[in-house]
Amino acid sequence: MRRKLAAGNWKMNGLTDTLGQVKALTDAHPDPQVDLLLCPPATLIAQMAWARGTHALQIGGQNCHAAATGAHTGDIAATMLKDAGASHVIVGHSERRADHGETDADVAAKALAAHAAGLIAIICLGETLAQREAGKALAVVTAQLKGSLPAGATAANTVIAYEPVWAIGTGKVPTLDQIGEVHGTLRGALRDMMREAEGVRLLYGGSVKASNAAEIFSVADVDGALVGGASLKAEDFSPIITALENA
Ligand code: 13P
Repeated sequence: MRRKLAAGNWKMNGLTDTLGQVKALTDAHPDPQVDLLLCPPATLIAQMAWARGTHALQIGGQNCHAAATGAHTGDIAATMLKDAGASHVIVGHSERRADHGETDADVAAKALAAHAAGLIAIICLGETLAQREAGKALAVVTAQLKGSLPAGATAANTVIAYEPVWAIGTGKVPTLDQIGEVHGTLRGALRDMMREAEGVRLLYGGSVKASNAAEIFSVADVDGALVGGASLKAEDFSPIITALENA
């Protein structure tokens, strides 16, 4: 059985005064029946790790460099995220692929660095609207998966997040059939690529909110969500967590 995962990506949002959301969230879910993860900006990782106390909430970074150390001004190594209290790191988010030109090979190298540091890599992929309208969504995500999954990926150290670019922050969500088609395709591709394919968690991301979470979680091979905007406030994230617990 794959343990479900409710993950929040705060993106470039959050100052120290937002850490109260951690207490609100952990108070609302003292004994979560799913894995809970928040990925704040790197500046807040250590403080969030302190703020969670003994709660099972896990903390992740949003990006890492492929190298372990070195002359890379402004970058953060996976070992540094781990040292600050992170257990996960998001790699290959479409905003990084678009804003920083990250390729599948870059993403695979980052995931490899994450694994070497003992972090779980959440590898993101997803098609653009133009690619979907051209009927290429399945081919695009399959190619991204093949190019972004590093050697040595296991069910324990890797999570895949399907985030259609056109659904991120737009309020638009694919149909349940479309989500199921992509997740089924990704599961099939994983079977061709690794032995532990059945254990790898596949998250859906893109405009997940309280009102649509339950139906999205009812789709086969959706093992949780990577939530952006609706993860910033505990009152918005909490019903999504509950929906996943009840799925
Ligand atoms: P939204 O939930 O704000 O659409 O963002 C999704 C996302 O990009 C999570 O990584």
